[in-house]
Amino acid sequence: MDWAEGYFTGLDYTFGYYRELNPAMLRIACLAAGVVPPYSESPTYLELGFGQGVSLNVHAAASEGEFWGTDLNPGQVAHASGLADVSGAELSLFDESFEEFARRNDIPLFDVIVLHGVWSWISEHNQSIITELVRKRLGPGGILLLPA
Ligand SMILES: C[S@@+](CC[C@H](N)C(=O)[O-])C[C@H]1O[C@@H](n2cnc3c(N)ncnc32)[C@H](O)[C@@H]1O
Repeated sequence: MDWAEGYFTGLDYTFGYYRELNPAMLRIACLAAGVVPPYSESPTYLELGFGQGVSLNVHAAASEGEFWGTDLNPGQVAHASGLADVSGAELSLFDESFEEFARRNDIPLFDVIVLHGVWSWISEHNQSIITELVRKRLGPGGILLLPA
């Protein structure tokens, strides 16, 4: 298996912003559905497979909290880091596969874990790695956004 674990990396991903990943929008969606997630003034937030990192950077720059993300494409991680340098937002960005990231022993329990445009593009092996990561690292009452 190659470094990209079979994922096609021949073209960099697009530069979209996705408001449904916004931590405040996620909280509002839960409250509107009658679910009250635990409140933290500084929530821990993880985006898996953040692509160019536009959404993650916007959310880190505009929201309270600790923002983490990983994507195995180093060119995209470099772009995301460049955005963070410009905005001054504090982000913990990794160019690691989901499997490598899940093995870290320095990651917190997350209040929010999101994936966008990832689940249906990855192997069953990687889906099971993400399932295990969410089981272990999503805190009690935390929010998971996992669109297919
Ligand atoms: C279809 S793109 C979606 C990017 C971004 N979430 C968006 O919606 O704009 C899927 C992303 O997942 C990343 N990815 C795929 N397999 C991965 C893996 N095993 N570990 C880490 N990232 C992975 C790719 O590099 C790519 O940036």
